[in-house]
Amino acid sequence: MTQDELKVMVAKEALKYIPKDGVLGVGSGSTVVKFIEQIGLNHVKVPAAVSSSNKTTSLLEERGIKVLDPNTVPGYDVYIDGADEVDPDFHMIKGGGACLTREKILTSMAKKFVLIVDKSKLVKVLGKFPLPVEVIPMAREQVIRTLKTLGGEPVLRKDCITDNGCEIVDVHGLTIDDPVALEDKINAIPGVVTVGLFARRGADVILYATEDGVQVIEK
Ligand code: A5P
Repeated sequence: MTQDELKVMVAKEALKYIPKDGVLGVGSGSTVVKFIEQIGLNHVKVPAAVSSSNKTTSLLEERGIKVLDPNTVPGYDVYIDGADEVDPDFHMIKGGGACLTREKILTSMAKKFVLIVDKSKLVKVLGKFPLPVEVIPMAREQVIRTLKTLGGEPVLRKDCITDNGCEIVDVHGLTIDDPVALEDKINAIPGVVTVGLFARRGADVILYATEDGVQVIEK
């Protein structure tokens, strides 16, 4: 089975988690693209959504789904998104698609985070996937110098401007033994918008696709 087929499989399974009423939070990335396609193909009714990227917004609107400004939503039940890595404590690295800040905002507003991944994303320790950090452009070099003191190798992502008009620095070569502490440390660096470590607020349910079907683990 290809990774693409695994993504479709988990995307279909995630349809069961869409609430009948209320707002759905929708993440970004290739697995989420499959999820939005499945919403359309299966004619699933989504009364309204909040979106974590301009691309997700377009895909939802193309299918007639109303996308709300999160400022008008006091909170909502279910957020569905992918990840680049997830550990056994449901901590994640996200931001491979540069949408980490909006994803983190929507995560913080949701009662339940349903993670949709294929089995390749499950890891024992986070850090093999370079850790994305969104930075305000005028602070980039100072943030890079500070990130170096934390032990990794920060690299500016080429040709990447986020939906927020910022840049992404990817930190290579980390072994993240204490994701909560590292999330706090990096978020405290002046000029960092947010780090793609989702540890303080991780996932609540993990759906992961394998050749034998979709497995579900709940916290
Ligand atoms: C987007 O910025 C990311 O956080 C994605 O959720 C993550 O990169 C997973 O993407 P894929 O589903 O494409 O692997």
